[in-house]
Amino acid sequence: MDYNSTYNNYKQLIEKEIELFANSLCCHDELKASVTYSLFAGGKRVRPVMFLACLEALGIDYQKYLKLALAIECIHTYSLIHDDLPSMDNDDYRRGKLSNHKVFGEGMAILAGDALLNSAMELALKSIDSEGTFNAVKYLFSCSGINGMINGQAYDLYYEDKIVDNKEQVLYETHLNKTGKLLTAPLVMASLIANGKLYNQLVELGFYTGKLFQFGDDLLDVTGEFKNLGKTIGKDLDSKKLTAISVYGKEGTEKQIDECYNSIVKILKNIDNNSFFMSFYANMKDRKS
Ligand code: IPE
Ligand code: IPE
Ligand code: MG
Ligand code: MG
Ligand code: MG
Repeated sequence: MDYNSTYNNYKQLIEKEIELFANSLCCHDELKASVTYSLFAGGKRVRPVMFLACLEALGIDYQKYLKLALAIECIHTYSLIHDDLPSMDNDDYRRGKLSNHKVFGEGMAILAGDALLNSAMELALKSIDSEGTFNAVKYLFSCSGINGMINGQAYDLYYEDKIVDNKEQVLYETHLNKTGKLLTAPLVMASLIANGKLYNQLVELGFYTGKLFQFGDDLLDVTGEFKNLGKTIGKDLDSKKLTAISVYGKEGTEKQIDECYNSIVKILKNIDNNSFFMSFYANMKDRKS
């Protein structure tokens, strides 16, 4: 199978799992509508795809871990719903559609995010069938929590429109936490399920994935197009965010993206069964969405 078919195959399995999850919900209609609106709004499904692909590369039957893959996507989707709120990035569009709070109101959007985080916990707990999966679940929530994504969001918010002395360091902490940790989780979770196989290499790969992805995201805020990206362009600049662009400029950011990609290729060359990930990162480097 070629790369695109393989990617779409993983993506379809995840989307089937989202449907099963949506059908199982028996909450208030408006909460269900709000949660499913964002889950079905599109999205690349990058994190759960990485998880399934990495399990497969490590020789694990990934079909057993679709609920855990969904848990990762639920956490990511909740983080986006909250990220778009007026009290955070105040973004009106996400995944090419109105943001959750624009359709359902702020209160319901907060609850939809909370619900997705709690659902992720339930899905993850139900997936535990070995010490490896227990460690993977623990790792996932350490990446999404107070020392992970939420911490990165706090950095991002706190340093908005502020004069910062040590910009590079603050940007590093922001990116590492808000994006890097939830992109490292799928790789390291797969390793933990495979009893720690390639653990150190996958931690390092995760670090560079986060950097490549968020540098790309910051660049697309300047160079991207709404029709591809599905979110408002120029938003970081307007809100005076500390981003790769504000620290390194457009060309400096592009240079770091190239360097980061080279580091990724170097790591991958020492990993067997790397062909999916070679294409995956080549696409990520040049992504438009
Ligand atoms: C957007 O993530 C938020 C960042 C971490 C930059 P994605 O670009 O993976 O968003 P979707 O899921 O494809 O919409
Ligand atoms: C968001 O970063 C990272 C999250 C944890 C959601 P951004 O605020 O840059 O993401 P976009 O640009 O809104 O997708
Ligand atoms: Mg943000
Ligand atoms: Mg945002
Ligand atoms: Mg952004």
